[in-house]
Amino acid sequence: MNKLTQITLASIATMALMANLSASDIYETHNTTLPELKMADNNLTFKMIEGYQDYKIVATHFRTDKNEIRYILANPIGYNALKEKAKVMPEGSKIVKIGWSVKKMPTFANALEADEVQRVEYMVKDSKKFNADGDNWGYARFVKKEGNYVAWDKGNKGCISCHSAVKETDYLFTKLQSTH
Ligand code: HEC
Repeated sequence: MNKLTQITLASIATMALMANLSASDIYETHNTTLPELKMADNNLTFKMIEGYQDYKIVATHFRTDKNEIRYILANPIGYNALKEKAKVMPEGSKIVKIGWSVKKMPTFANALEADEVQRVEYMVKDSKKFNADGDNWGYARFVKKEGNYVAWDKGNKGCISCHSAVKETDYLFTKLQSTH
């Protein structure tokens, strides 16, 4: 085999891999400083959203009962789908929610600012693993307690049942927030 044939074969193999998003691509992880934590009922880990701090911000929410500011972020697959108002989010979409407590800004009493991270949670679209209600979403939550994250130990049934209220938007409460 000459060099050109080898290179061509290698690029065909790469393209084939890229075209066929396998389950391992969805969860590909690298060395990370995220804690080793796993949801007991579906094995989703914190590390599976490695790099989430670089995802694009999709929306900001405020839970008045929990007094928490929340950022919703999406990986590139999820972000593009939200931008295109996809009816059903594509395979590999990851939507992350970070929640912070709030405090008064020390320099301006009428302004609030984010204080401590309270939680990081996510939804991942994976039809191979999650099919229970036909929505293909997996749910994970990691809650910060006294400075350390712990995996949510009450399972994901609660997540599924509450998010079922928004079936018509593919189980997502979030839509892309307008910036103009
Ligand atoms: C009682 C209802 C309820 C339950 C239970 C619930 N959620 Fe949500 N979730 C919401 C609402 C309302 C929003 C949008 C407001 C916000 O950001 O807090 C949301 C937003 C989200 C988002 C951002 C995407 C979206 O749908 O807007 C993720 C990710 C998420 N929830 C994950 C989870 C996980 C994981 C669990 C279970 C451990 C869970 N949720 C349980 C109501 C719920």
